[in-house]
Amino acid sequence: MTRVLVIGSLGGELGQAARMAQVRGAHLMHAEGVAAAMVRLRVDGADLALCELAHDVGWLVSQLAEERIHCPVIACGRNADAAAAVRAIRAGAREFLPLPPDADLIVALLQAVAGEPEGPVHADPAMAAVLERAAQIARAEASVLITGESGTGKEVLARHIHKLSKRGAGPFVALNCAALPETLMESELFGHEKGAFSGAVAARKGKFEQAEGGTLLLDEIGEMDPRLQAKLLRALQEKEVDKLGGNAPVKVNCRILAATNRDLAGEVRAGRFREDLYFRLNVITLRIPPLRERPGDIQLLAEHFAVRFAKANGLPKRALNGEARLKLAQHAWPGNVREMENTMHRAVLLAQGEMIGAEAIELPVVPSAAAPLEAAPATATAAPASTAKPVTQLVGQKMEVVERDLILETLTHCLGNRTRAAEILGISIRTLRNKLHDYRAQGVAVPGVPGMLPPGFYAQGF
Ligand SMILES: Nc1ncnc2c1ncn2[C@@H]1O[C@H](COP(=O)(O)OP(=O)(O)OP(=O)(O)O)[C@@H](O)[C@H]1O
Ligand SMILES: [Mg+2]
Repeated sequence: MTRVLVIGSLGGELGQAARMAQVRGAHLMHAEGVAAAMVRLRVDGADLALCELAHDVGWLVSQLAEERIHCPVIACGRNADAAAAVRAIRAGAREFLPLPPDADLIVALLQAVAGEPEGPVHADPAMAAVLERAAQIARAEASVLITGESGTGKEVLARHIHKLSKRGAGPFVALNCAALPETLMESELFGHEKGAFSGAVAARKGKFEQAEGGTLLLDEIGEMDPRLQAKLLRALQEKEVDKLGGNAPVKVNCRILAATNRDLAGEVRAGRFREDLYFRLNVITLRIPPLRERPGDIQLLAEHFAVRFAKANGLPKRALNGEARLKLAQHAWPGNVREMENTMHRAVLLAQGEMIGAEAIELPVVPSAAAPLEAAPATATAAPASTAKPVTQLVGQKMEVVERDLILETLTHCLGNRTRAAEILGISIRTLRNKLHDYRAQGVAVPGVPGMLPPGFYAQGF
């Protein structure tokens, strides 16, 4: 976290600048004048100092140089003070920040001057704590397990850890462990030699080898087949992989991060996930709280995406009005940051006025608590169930029939995407796969089959 020392009075525009920096994740310290600032810097240090022009910026800069304290100084003042600004820069201030402050400029300053890496956008203390822990462990080699609901930013955090790590200059490779059937997943992980199996027309490096010198993210690790779990454990222990069709193990050197939206400890207890692998992967756990548990992030993320999508669509940057902010603040965000991203993308395209208003913020309607009992329950997972079949109409049917209908309906709803369907249903991909297998065996049509693999997959070296 960037530590910013603010020098001057916090009552006015400098105070505004300080709060903007704080909202963007900076840790604030304060000193009334340059002498007090030096006392503070000698003891605690800081990554950046914002100093009001009214104070002796020149003295501060020279004193820092004399005592060999590294801390870039930004002189802050009104644009009208041009002469004083020039003097401050000449005296060694790194930059001049015009007041009243501009939020984007503050972000740019934090990033450029203090060398803050571009990482997850955050303001809420809950997220700041996660990022602080992430920064602490980034430079170690230990495996990290990142947990969190779908869309909370697990991959974003994994990339951030990679960037902060000693391997930051190396590759970052991610593999979704739920995306492929087991046999293909094995060669995806460990690679194969030419002719290793029918269709292996050329040798191919696995993700372990691709991540050489860098970081490998094993996403949705909870979905990995038990047989592969054993092979993965061996690879982690021996730091070598057996390529399919290869005749000698290949040494590998990459750091492993794993991510899951499941309760992996629960999967271990249920016998679906190897305990030894769990302990190997889970040296450190980082749990990303769902967005509803970090309300302080909502406005900042909304602004962040509003700016990003305005830029991407060649539209003017627009702020959110009060009603729009309120609407965002009151929503439960079952889809977390990804839902926010999509919502703001739509909002940027739909908004018509000078500002983004509430009418441009389209959110799924969650049934209110006052709704009649037979309506879909007001759970945090939105997606109000269709009212076509209230529960009472299901009475008289066998459980397995209802289950089958629900699974197939959900799969249809997800256009055959099994990962998504399993997520909505709250079952593992493997369970879903087994059930679908049974249905097919019973002669029931299953949507989205054989669409597991993208077209042309076999042409890409398989
Ligand atoms: N803190 C953040 N700042 C900026 N963007 C974010 C942040 N967190 C998430 N995002 C964005 O939200 C989307 C979802 O993030 P990500 O893919 O990392 O989530 P995830 O937890 O891996 O989700 P899933 O479980 O569905 O794979 C991405 O487009 C990502 O860029
Ligand atoms: Mg992910």
